[in-house]
Amino acid sequence: MMRCIFFLLGILLPISCAENYRGTHLQAAVQCSRRTKSSDAPDLREIYLWTLKNSLTGMLLQTPSYQAYVSAMNTADMPVYNESVRSVGRDWPLYGLTMVGIKRLDNLQKLITTILANNVAGDFVECGVWRGGSSIFMRGVLKAYNSLDRVIHLVDSFDGLPPASTPEDEDIWSQVNFLKVPQDTVEDGFSRYHLLDNQVQFHKGFFRHSLPRFRKNFGDRKIALLRMDGDMYESTMDILFNLADVLAPGACIVVDDWVIEACQKAMKEFFDMHNMRPEIIPIDNDAVYFCLDESIDLKMAWYEQFNKKRSP
Ligand SMILES: C[S@@+](CC[C@H](N)C(=O)[O-])C[C@H]1O[C@@H](n2cnc3c(N)ncnc32)[C@H](O)[C@@H]1O
Repeated sequence: MMRCIFFLLGILLPISCAENYRGTHLQAAVQCSRRTKSSDAPDLREIYLWTLKNSLTGMLLQTPSYQAYVSAMNTADMPVYNESVRSVGRDWPLYGLTMVGIKRLDNLQKLITTILANNVAGDFVECGVWRGGSSIFMRGVLKAYNSLDRVIHLVDSFDGLPPASTPEDEDIWSQVNFLKVPQDTVEDGFSRYHLLDNQVQFHKGFFRHSLPRFRKNFGDRKIALLRMDGDMYESTMDILFNLADVLAPGACIVVDDWVIEACQKAMKEFFDMHNMRPEIIPIDNDAVYFCLDESIDLKMAWYEQFNKKRSP
C-alpha cells in the first residue's frame, strides 16, 4: 500500500511542479523544485522564462497601474496593484514592459514551443508593440531554445495609434499619450534584457504605410506566429490584408483585442469574406488565438476599395 502511495506521489509531484512555472508564484515553484529529485526539477530554461514573464509584466515588483486607465475603466477604487487584474492583462502597468499579463505570455510560450516542435516555418511578427515586452519575451523564448534562424519583427508607429481614417473607429486612440513609445525606448528595453541582436527587426510607421513596405522586403519568407495588438478596426484590417497570405500552414495568430468591438468586427468580416471558420480559442477574457491549416487567398479588391474610401 505504502509503496503504491510513494509511486503515485513520484508521478504527480513533477507534473504539479511543472505547472508552478506557469503563472506568478515563484515561492511555490521553488519549494516544489526543492521537493523533487534533481532529475525531475524544472530546469534553468523554465526558471529563466518564468522570471522574464514576471519581470516584463511588472508582477515581480508589483508595480502600480497607470491611474488614468484605472479611472477611465470606472474602477477608481481598484487597488494600486492587483495581481488578479495584472495577470489577465486588465490594467496598464505604470512600470512594466508589456500590458498583456501572465496568462497571455504563458500562452505565447506554449504556441512558440509548439511551433518549434512542429517545425512550422517562419518568423514571428508583433503588430502593435507599445514598450516591446511581448516581443522581448518572444526573443527570450527563441534564445532559451537556441533557435537561431527566426527573426522577431516589431511593427509599430512608435508614436501611438493613428487618427481614425474610417467611420468604423472612434477617433479617440490617437490622443492616448501613454501608448506613444519611441523606438529608442523599445530598443533600450531589449538591450537591458541582453536580447537586442540581428534576430530583432523594427518596422516603423502607421500600419497602412509600414506593412506594404515590410511585405515588399519580406521576399519569400513566411510567418509562423502573428501577434495582432492594434486595438482598432483599421489596424486589424491593415494587418490581415498585408500579412495573412504569408502565414505558413500551421501558423498561429493571437488576437489580443478580441474583446474590443471594432477589432472583433474586423476579424469576423475578414473570416466571412474569406469563407474561414477557424476554431477560436480563448486565452483569457480579452484575447483569443487560432491556427491555420491552409494558406489564405486574399480578397484584395475589398482592401483596395477600403483604402480608396479612407481619409489620408
Ligand atoms: C495596446 S498597445 C500594444 C501592447 C503590446 N503588445 C504589449 O505587449 O504591451 C497598441 C500599440 O499598437 C500601436 N498601433 C496601433 N495601431 C497602429 C497602427 N495602425 N499603426 C502603427 N501602430 C499602431 C500603438 O502605437 C501601440 O504601441
